[in-house]
Amino acid sequence: MSGTTAVLCLCLVYGLMHQMEASVLNCIPRKTVTYSNGSIKTFMKPGSSNFSTLLVSEETDTLFVGARDAMFALDLNDISREIDSEDWFATRDRQLECIRRGKDKVDCRNYILLLHKINDTHLYVCGTNAFYPTCDYMVINRTDIHLQRKSEESRGRCPFEPTLKYASLLVDGAFYSATSNNFLGTEPIILRSLRNHLRTEFKASWLNEPSFVYMDIVQESESNPDGDDDKIYMFFTETAVEFEFYDKLLVSRIARVCKGDLGGKRTLQKRWTSFLKSSLLCSVPESNFQFNIVQDVFLLRKADWQESIFYGIFTQQWGRLDISAVCAFSMKTVQEVFTKGNYKGPVTVENSQIKWVVFRGEVPLPRPGACIDNFARNSGYNTSLDLPDKILQFVRDHPLMDKTVNSVGDRPVLLKRGSNYTRIVVDRITGLDKKTYDVLFVGTDNGYLHKALNCDGEMFIVEEIQLFQSPEPVQSLKLSSRKGFNSEY
Ligand SMILES: *[C@@H]1O[C@H](CO)[C@@H](O)[C@H](O)[C@H]1NC(C)=O
Ligand SMILES: *[C@@H]1O[C@H](CO)[C@@H](O)[C@H](O)[C@H]1NC(C)=O
Repeated sequence: MSGTTAVLCLCLVYGLMHQMEASVLNCIPRKTVTYSNGSIKTFMKPGSSNFSTLLVSEETDTLFVGARDAMFALDLNDISREIDSEDWFATRDRQLECIRRGKDKVDCRNYILLLHKINDTHLYVCGTNAFYPTCDYMVINRTDIHLQRKSEESRGRCPFEPTLKYASLLVDGAFYSATSNNFLGTEPIILRSLRNHLRTEFKASWLNEPSFVYMDIVQESESNPDGDDDKIYMFFTETAVEFEFYDKLLVSRIARVCKGDLGGKRTLQKRWTSFLKSSLLCSVPESNFQFNIVQDVFLLRKADWQESIFYGIFTQQWGRLDISAVCAFSMKTVQEVFTKGNYKGPVTVENSQIKWVVFRGEVPLPRPGACIDNFARNSGYNTSLDLPDKILQFVRDHPLMDKTVNSVGDRPVLLKRGSNYTRIVVDRITGLDKKTYDVLFVGTDNGYLHKALNCDGEMFIVEEIQLFQSPEPVQSLKLSSRKGFNSEY
């Protein structure tokens, strides 16, 4: 792909279900589909590049795409067909200011990184806007899309830097974002905006040089006997504070907050009172393979939320860098760690060094970091604003759980040498034998898509599809339940 007439390549992969049923039954060995013999649709536009984000609208059969300085609406049935587009540039003054502050000219553009549906007529969109992150509303009127042009500075909602990893989610009119809050990229934040603004404390024990990869909601309030709240889960890699090590040791984390959190009244005012995190363990027990860097995650939802599974792609910080692992984490395990597990706490050892160890003291009640549930309500705490300072101080100082979230079976469900996995989506299908199968679709850094499924207890790659002619990383994968699915570099 040539640098200047950057081409976008969006691919719709064919007749998924049929193929799948056949392969489930036979457990057929790996089949490779190359770029030329696959029936892949591509969207390209001269002058357009950096197609960073996708949003599927099944109701209107539209695929929205955020790119550099522009957004596109494509026909979901044939993504090579553009329905409409809208330019969104950083002003010349903004670009000059960005360059003056020492940033590379090519990064001083408007990279549109976030696209969220608000309702049938409005999307919420955010771009880096030459290191001046900005969000706006996009109005959809049948085949016409246009920006409302009522943009405002939106730090904490969208990265300043186009290459920085981030995660976001829009639920019930509230916008959750995990990114950096400043120009230098030194202040990480998990923010809720648009409604009931709340943010994380700026403390290394909360977030320590994190690289965010994923965020999603689990509707835990559904038929919940404890009257518990829905929770937003986020995934990131960060520098560990709890291990002593001569070098920076990275750890993968799962963190969560409660949807109904309103912050504290004095302590943790406008801050999350329910931010708790734990480490994710993805390793091969009989070897010393520790997959400590999470690259992407996908939540496979089940009818009963307790049966839902997070699938994650992991790589190693040291050792064999060309091995990727896929680990699965059950909601049950996640829930157990956060609702029953011990906390870690800091203790000062010699040379006034801080060590994080399991907290053995008395934990106040209601359980710090828990959502407002029946127990809290029965104790007279109807919102987080009612919680006593003692509880809030505890959760502020003990955001890390002692127990790790271990993967299903205590090992990866898939290990792959020679491929660096970048993105994952998972579908659950019913085979002709009436059994259900989890089918993994994993994108690689050289433009391939691997389709893997469980055959007789072992996950294996049944198909490998070359998505792009040149070896470009797969940067985004979206599942469309009716159409097969889309991917992009
Ligand atoms: C959709 O959301 C926009 C932006 O919040 C709002 O102005 C508009 O009234 C909403 N439309 C409907 C039909 O709810
Ligand atoms: C934008 O695309 C160009 C060309 O593919 C690539 O070199 C550059 O790294 C991309 N920038 C970002 C911020 O993704």
